[in-house]
Amino acid sequence: MAVPGVTIQDAPQYAYRGAMLDVARHFFSVQDVKRYIDLITSYKVNKLHLHLTDDQGWRIEIKSWPKLTEIGGTSAVGGDQGGFYTQAQFRDIVAYAKVHHITVIPEIDMPGHTNAALASYPELNCDGEARSLYTGTRVGFSTLCVDKELTYKFLDDVIREVASLTDGDYIHLGGDESHVTSKEDYNLFLTKAQAIVKKYGKNVMGWEDIQSAGISDETIVQHWTNPEIATLGAKQGASVVLSPAPTTYLDMKYTKGTKIGLTWAGVTPIDSAYIWNPQTLLKNVPTSQIIGIESPLWSETAVDIDAIEYLAFPRLIGHAELGWTQEQNRSWKSYLIRLKNHQKRLKIRKVNYYPSPLLE
Ligand code: ACM
Repeated sequence: MAVPGVTIQDAPQYAYRGAMLDVARHFFSVQDVKRYIDLITSYKVNKLHLHLTDDQGWRIEIKSWPKLTEIGGTSAVGGDQGGFYTQAQFRDIVAYAKVHHITVIPEIDMPGHTNAALASYPELNCDGEARSLYTGTRVGFSTLCVDKELTYKFLDDVIREVASLTDGDYIHLGGDESHVTSKEDYNLFLTKAQAIVKKYGKNVMGWEDIQSAGISDETIVQHWTNPEIATLGAKQGASVVLSPAPTTYLDMKYTKGTKIGLTWAGVTPIDSAYIWNPQTLLKNVPTSQIIGIESPLWSETAVDIDAIEYLAFPRLIGHAELGWTQEQNRSWKSYLIRLKNHQKRLKIRKVNYYPSPLLE
């Protein structure tokens, strides 16, 4: 049978269509990350932001500071098994992602969320005493020592090595929830950290909080919780990626009864994840500065790839459509019909997706 030729005219609304995986609270193997890449690339997601370090674990080999992984890589939330990527493994992930049209954005979170580093090297603490490894889920209790010269030697080494492992333009400096760093220290620290990223030929991405340090128009701020703070970042000329927690945080439960996930930003059923407009979310930011959306998946309660798939799918598919398709061509009604049909493919690929009652 002859099939008539067609011409398809299509282009994404946004250049940045991201997913974030937290490999710090729980560690995910290279194979797990590749499985996630296989899945997200099907929906034209083109950035994989890896949250590589946090209080509970340091997951990327730094050759000049080997104890980061020898000590800081061993722990995970709940006392579960830790782990880390060697630099060769990380390059393998970056190369695999590239073949799938995905750029990896490595995040080294700082100056807070650093207990794993502070447990690995006593000298990174202001008092010179190593912290204990941490396996709980509190946030906001750790900070690098802003006053020490050694801190900036550490940063220089880490950023230099991480920059050499990625082919992307951005290094994500985190910057969220540094609750025990004074504002003055925080701003000083991030000014220095940003200069180091530039020195190694990369641009800075960070959670919206980093705007207080002063940022450049080459920076990407990632909006997660406070529209006013994100807007202050945009006012400095930065681009904005949208990850509003109530709709895009894949670790929020679908309903109160969902066995895994958190609820601090609410519950996020599949319709809520889809029904919002990235173009108008931040009222005072010009749409030209909104470069995309990203779906973060924090892993405090997600212990394995099955849990990751359950939380991500199908919500991530809806986010991918928000990233690709203009508002006037989207509707929940049409999407729901397509998503219902799409379940067949998810089943063929053995995706452990959440069978929402909305899909019945
Ligand atoms: C965040 O959720 N702490 C960025």
